[in-house]
Amino acid sequence: IVPPGINCIYVRQPKALGLGHAVLCSRPVIGNVPFAVVLPDDLISSDVSVVKQLLDAREAQGGGSVVAVQDVALEDTKKYGIVSVDDAACPVSRVRGIVEKPDPSVAPSRLAVIGRYVFEPEIFDYLARQAVQQAGVGGEIQLTDAISASLAQVPTYACRYQGHRYDCGSKQGYIDATVSFARKRGFKIN
Ligand code: G1P
Repeated sequence: IVPPGINCIYVRQPKALGLGHAVLCSRPVIGNVPFAVVLPDDLISSDVSVVKQLLDAREAQGGGSVVAVQDVALEDTKKYGIVSVDDAACPVSRVRGIVEKPDPSVAPSRLAVIGRYVFEPEIFDYLARQAVQQAGVGGEIQLTDAISASLAQVPTYACRYQGHRYDCGSKQGYIDATVSFARKRGFKIN
């Protein structure tokens, strides 16, 4: 169901070259303005949408990119982009480093990026540079690598979001989400 005033525009990713490449494919539609990325396999139930939480954090910081984060178990760092920040105890803190799916033995922290991002449009330049460097290599173009390359120029913040996340990329998470949302909508499930 499309809310009033919303247009849906679909862009095809011609080759499966990774998340960063998928985001880069949207450049002709987005142009030179800040934008949000929402990965739908991370389903989040929250009172305030996580994108709104990131936008509020961005406004409080006076601009910049913002990524949603949560603590994960040490053995799970290899499933996520992991950030190092100025102050991990703060709800919003400046990101100083980010690495994709590190082994627990080398993970800079247990703060994992969840599939909600707000980006300054400059991220496209970093993704495009990666696409040129990797053209022909056949490797994926990682969003995490572009964020990492941009950190010196683009202030980037990690925001501990409020909400409950279901990892619908895993069978268990998908079942948990289905049962939980069904219950919320009045289905009786034992
Ligand atoms: C992607 C990102 C990763 C992020 C994760 C969140 O990984 O590459 O940095 O932590 O989404 O769900 P994927 O789940 O596509 O392997």
